[in-house]
Amino acid sequence: MQRLLWLLLLIGVLLFFMTSCQSNDDTNSSSQNNSENPSDEEDVTANQEYEKLPKTPLQKLDQGEQVVALQYFLEQLGYSFSDQGNYNEQVTWAITDFQIQQEDLLVSGIYDEDTKQKLEEVIQSEKTYKPGKGLPAPTEPAFTDAGTEVISNPYDQLVLVNKDFSLPADYIPDDLVIPNVPFPFIEDIPKKYMRQAAADALEELFADAQEEGLELYAQSGYRSYDRQDTIFAANAAENGEKHANKYSARPGESEHQTGLAMDVTSPEVNFSLETEFGETKEGKWVKENATNYGFIIRFPEGKEEITKYQFEPWHLRYVGQKAAEEIMNQNITLEEYLEK
Ligand code: DAL
Ligand code: ZN
Repeated sequence: MQRLLWLLLLIGVLLFFMTSCQSNDDTNSSSQNNSENPSDEEDVTANQEYEKLPKTPLQKLDQGEQVVALQYFLEQLGYSFSDQGNYNEQVTWAITDFQIQQEDLLVSGIYDEDTKQKLEEVIQSEKTYKPGKGLPAPTEPAFTDAGTEVISNPYDQLVLVNKDFSLPADYIPDDLVIPNVPFPFIEDIPKKYMRQAAADALEELFADAQEEGLELYAQSGYRSYDRQDTIFAANAAENGEKHANKYSARPGESEHQTGLAMDVTSPEVNFSLETEFGETKEGKWVKENATNYGFIIRFPEGKEEITKYQFEPWHLRYVGQKAAEEIMNQNITLEEYLEK
């Protein structure tokens, strides 16, 4: 009887050890798994070699893995970034600089299909490539005498030009063309011109407006720094600087110098640039449809505190379709969109 009790005790002790070893194994293996997984993932991210450039277009404010992939390839060309996964000013600069260095690319700071193809070509060619050769890398911000920051990348399609950020006095876009749209004058003068991408989009907008039976005219596009200087001086002489600056930009602070803006009008308001244009059928159609062509009403009604200019239903600014839709659908300004 006593032997039987000893035997049972022995079996009990054995069983206890077996189960506790088993559970220890479980614990070990699961804790090993837990510790292996994250380090595996970290290694993958750290050593990731992207095989292909992103297929979809990317632009300022975009975020995520596709931007990281684009940065990876730009790094192969010698660019370096302080931040990964954010299409910020630095990435916009790198793309702009790359586009300027290619002969037949539109310069916009936007990663599009043509830019993708060129990047592929240049990376594969393994030719020497120099970051900053097209557009020098921005250094410390520079300021005008009046205290506004000088824009370092005026080619950026999403460039913000206003009373805080001004264009370099010597900036002249190098892809200015005359859009094939009606003007209320015939001379070949600078204000007929726009940058290529904006001109193409304006032509489409005008063609569709015309199909709807509307009479839209382009009144004023590109304006040089010097021309803006003359216009502002004349307005200031007539109405005083402070009042003039509510409707007329100081030189360097006008979007017209970017070649991305066009003032549009119609015969119903005698081709003038007046708020009444917003009440015409042309003005209403433009407000309703501009985004489809990549344009925004840059100085909307009710946003004067932000834009620091009065309502201008006639001033169209090209930003591209994606940004235009986001800005107009959210009823915000370019300032709010870019959070500057
Ligand atoms: N009218 C706009 C603000 C300009 O002068 O550019
Ligand atoms: Zn304008």
